[in-house]
Amino acid sequence: MENKQINFFKVKDINTVLKPFKKGSVISIDNVDIREKPKQLEIGLYGWYAICPSSELKNNKIHYFSLFDEPLLLFRDEKNNVRCIKNICPHRGASFYGGSISNGKLTCPYHGARFSAEGNCQNLDRITCSHIVDNNYDNYAKRIHLSQYKAVEKDSYIYVYFSDHSETDLNNINEKSLINNYELISNGFNLHDSVSEEVLVDFKCDWSRIIENHLDILHIFWVHGDTIPDKEVNKNVLVSFNQKININQKFIESIYYYKNNPTKEFIRIKYIPPGRVLIYKGDPSVSKYVQVLDHIPLGENKSRVIVRHYRKFLKNKLLNNLILFKEIQKKIFYKIFDEDYMILKTQTYNHKLGLIKNDEIKLLGEDRIINYFWNWYKKSEEKDNPWKLISKNKELNVYDEIIFKYPPEIKKLEIINNLSIIRKTFTRYAAPLIFLLLII
Ligand code: FES
Ligand SMILES: [Fe+2]
Repeated sequence: MENKQINFFKVKDINTVLKPFKKGSVISIDNVDIREKPKQLEIGLYGWYAICPSSELKNNKIHYFSLFDEPLLLFRDEKNNVRCIKNICPHRGASFYGGSISNGKLTCPYHGARFSAEGNCQNLDRITCSHIVDNNYDNYAKRIHLSQYKAVEKDSYIYVYFSDHSETDLNNINEKSLINNYELISNGFNLHDSVSEEVLVDFKCDWSRIIENHLDILHIFWVHGDTIPDKEVNKNVLVSFNQKININQKFIESIYYYKNNPTKEFIRIKYIPPGRVLIYKGDPSVSKYVQVLDHIPLGENKSRVIVRHYRKFLKNKLLNNLILFKEIQKKIFYKIFDEDYMILKTQTYNHKLGLIKNDEIKLLGEDRIINYFWNWYKKSEEKDNPWKLISKNKELNVYDEIIFKYPPEIKKLEIINNLSIIRKTFTRYAAPLIFLLLII
């Protein structure tokens, strides 16, 4: 893969600048050396989005979601292939919500039109007079057709290719970007060695602010310093590091090396547009822990994040279950998201209302990757204009309940997770113990 180093930022002994590291400290970074004009990311806001883990889409179930406020749905056809359909019935525009899916056939709840997975209406006589159908069947069949976006499954994710228009014939979809770019294996993941867990969270805030947050390393020490179980992530001590940024047409990558051991990576953050961020704890070839963060622009101030983390330790399933590893990880994730959410909401407010003027903010060396991201986002939004389909009626939130599946009320999730921990602790420890005592 082409991969050219363009910038090498030296962070001037950040420990001496930041000690004691307290709120309001000024972070000063110099020796920024721009050797070459950066290459541009080729992919814009139209491209492949990981929509959900494969396990979320059960047979004969519909998964409702939206991209840039366009209502969409996923289901599996008779061959188990994933279909992404525009949630608009081609008869009179009803939503399929409340309809049904059976053996890969979608039935509209309004007048009962039934569509094959390819999109053909199979019971035209239900929605028009039979003599018209008899005379003009071909004409009708051609006109009444589901609109689709291309969907594929890879690495146990369901991806959708979002573009400026849906298609009635999927063979016509012109793939400007190859899905291979997102393949975990070509991004240094050795899936056979690892176990993974997933957390899905919906936020009522701007999509781009969440990506920006996941590209930002500095806040990790400050915002999450008390939560992340890593001895090097600490509120009071900021680890000193050098930063290297790689950029090519397919991704931007920021690598942080320890200051006192310049060959040792602390963290590597890779952004693959439009929606994926990969975080490697150390060099990917030896990293024991990697995170895949997918960002889904559900709509204006409606965003979903899927976090999947792979780890190479504790592969034993029984041991994992006994120590409630999954549940504890989930708990930590929700706490981390809760911490970010407070920041993201105010970020959204300041940016969306245009309150920030260029001369009011100072981007420092560490913020360089954020700057690349902002530039990319601004350009992509102007070029692709993904919001052009949306009605400006902001009060119309009829889809929110359907689409906001992983509720943003973190407290509620926290309670559910705590209850699950209590229940599982009881069934795995207390119940067998009571049972044993009774026998004795
Ligand atoms: S709107 Fe769907 S069948 Fe009439
Ligand atoms: Fe964060």
